[in-house]
Amino acid sequence: MEYSIALLKGDGIGVEIVDSAVEVLTRVGEIYGHIFNFTPYLIGGTAIDETGEPLPKETVDGCLASDSVLLGAVGGPRWDDMPGDKRPEKALLGIRYALGLYTNLRPAKLFPALKGASPLREDIVGAGFDIMIVRELTGGIYFGDRGYREGKFGREAFDTEAYSITEIERIGKAAFDIARKRSKRVTSIDKANVLETSRLWRRTMHALAERYPDVEYRDMLVDNAAMQLVRDPEQFDVIVTSNMFGDILSDEASQITGSIGMLASASLGDTTRGMYEPIHGSAPDIAGQDKANPIATILSAAMMLRYSFGLSAEADSIEAAVDNVLNSGARTADILGTCDGVPIGCRAMTEKVVAALE
Ligand code: IPM
Ligand code: MG
Repeated sequence: MEYSIALLKGDGIGVEIVDSAVEVLTRVGEIYGHIFNFTPYLIGGTAIDETGEPLPKETVDGCLASDSVLLGAVGGPRWDDMPGDKRPEKALLGIRYALGLYTNLRPAKLFPALKGASPLREDIVGAGFDIMIVRELTGGIYFGDRGYREGKFGREAFDTEAYSITEIERIGKAAFDIARKRSKRVTSIDKANVLETSRLWRRTMHALAERYPDVEYRDMLVDNAAMQLVRDPEQFDVIVTSNMFGDILSDEASQITGSIGMLASASLGDTTRGMYEPIHGSAPDIAGQDKANPIATILSAAMMLRYSFGLSAEADSIEAAVDNVLNSGARTADILGTCDGVPIGCRAMTEKVVAALE
């Protein structure tokens, strides 16, 4: 088969890590007889520099015309003083919205080889954990009304959170459907003791849970969830939560796996076109130095094969290659943990994964 993939490399290490994933996909194509056609488009700070806009129309059109989208990372200190609607991050929110990608899957799995890199004590890590965070991606406070107004203490800034039953139901369904393919447990995370949106969230999830009697359901308040994730991560299977809580908890979940440099993500909507990206940022401090860990982006490419193209054997082969390379002891600096040894760079790690593909 032939597939068209839009590449949004973005800023900082985004360029190196997307190049790595392209090499891996190309090799998978050779092995399994697929053709992947890649077309790069501008996004983020680089797009601001070249066009004045963080998300040029050509980029949105290009993504809409492709079968799927692979994204690196956006942002950097160079653009930090831009006004809110011109920041590189705005482009990320904008492209997710433009493509209708309301479901964000962020798997946080402990690779056995990386146990030593987890900041959690060995007795807490135990047999490991495998959590799927399902984050709502196109609603809530990241998309609500915002601005400035006169308040009790003078001029104030405000952001608003709004969720409709429709938005909560569709993300809830995605979570329950995924749980059915895993160990059938859903934890919905909210702040229903304070927020009205969370109370609607909880009521809607409860109604949905009744339609999935085979799935074990529970609610948890977000502050408690932040604590439980580091106290006993194994208790979680599928977590479903709002845009902001999912943003925060997925960083926490990634760190307990040993490194944020390992975690992939898939953003999906109602079509098979998805956007796949590492959950980490553009790491401007190490950009262009061949120090970045390409694994999160490589695993994101594997998720693309699985979720957008239905190529599960090909996706499995990428995941197995990453496993093998880690088991062989190869480490980039971020996952060195307590291991002694010399870290390898982004290029060397990529070559190892490509060589391990079969
Ligand atoms: C993420 C990032 C983005 C988000 C930012 C850069 C807009 O933190 O993908 O988690 O909040 O979604
Ligand atoms: Mg984030």
